[in-house]
Amino acid sequence: MLPKYVKIVEVGPRDGLQNEKQPIETTDKIALVNALADAGLQVIESGSFVNPKWVPQMAGSEAVFAGIQRKAGVSYAALTPNMKGFERALEAGATEVAIFAAASEAFSQKNINCSIAESIERFAPIMEAARASNVPVRGYVSCIAGCPYEGAIAPAKVADVSQQLFDAGCYEISLGDTIGTGTPAQIEQVIDAVTRSLPVNKLALHAHDTYGQALANIYRALQLGVSVFDSSVAGLGGCPYAKGASGNVATEDLIYLLDGLGIEHGVDLQAVVDAGQRMCDLLGRSNNSKVARALLAK
Ligand code: HMG
Ligand code: MG
Repeated sequence: MLPKYVKIVEVGPRDGLQNEKQPIETTDKIALVNALADAGLQVIESGSFVNPKWVPQMAGSEAVFAGIQRKAGVSYAALTPNMKGFERALEAGATEVAIFAAASEAFSQKNINCSIAESIERFAPIMEAARASNVPVRGYVSCIAGCPYEGAIAPAKVADVSQQLFDAGCYEISLGDTIGTGTPAQIEQVIDAVTRSLPVNKLALHAHDTYGQALANIYRALQLGVSVFDSSVAGLGGCPYAKGASGNVATEDLIYLLDGLGIEHGVDLQAVVDAGQRMCDLLGRSNNSKVARALLAK
């Protein structure tokens, strides 16, 4: 049976914009976050407090957090790779943070400059400080269905890293198909492996659409009981440490799928379409959401 309600985690202002080489005005980033909150999205990843030398586009995340109009009931999330990032996020007023590990050793080295085991150790003080400050922590596991450096990744490895993040205290584990190579059969294997030890209601799927499989993967995950999905307005984005990876599934396309299935989500589709097209116009690029393109052509 499909879930009745799905929580959408909007990652556009972070995952969507982090890979953009051209400068984007802070006011435009703030306007995007505000528009997404007005559209009804309840969790918005609004920036990341990583080393600015590694991801220059996210360097101004403090200013973004300082400028957004906080809406009651909306969680403004941030990525934090280490204690320095966590302290910056707390100071900026992030209402939740996300730590990010990988199921691939090579990707872990390229993305956060340490092994998987070292990353888990590095996260421990963040978990402790977050508990003390009452800040919920989400955990990402990247490369659940393939790695740009190692190729195939065993579902058991995904389950192992997910378990470690969950045991460390993450309230939700977001399974990232970072390079979008996964197909529904693979996603099923991964979810089967992870749910051998974790409850399905603690999982989210973070699908990138590089190979056009994101909606099919989401549908399979819905059938298996997953009810939290990450998506990016206008399908913006990609990971700077995963060459060729395109954006997340577009929020507009996810909403259209959920509407068709009669699953509630609480988000105004047209408002998301408008917010996404405004950012695409600013960036001078075409909209990666098929639903947005269809609606805008009407
Ligand atoms: P490092 O270079 O090993 O760090 O980077 P370090 O501890 O050796 O420090 C080096 C310098 O960086 C020092 O400054 C630190 O202060 C500074 P210096 O003394 O040389 O002047 N530094 C920082 N500055 C500001 N904020 C910080 C910070 N940390 C250190 N937080 C590190 C290690 C983890 C920081 C680095 O590798 C990094 O920032 N990586 C992040 C890469 C990234 O953001 N990738 C994209 C996000 S992940 C993703 O997109 C996948 C996801 O969407 C899920 C999916 O799709 O699968 C989440
Ligand atoms: Mg991602």
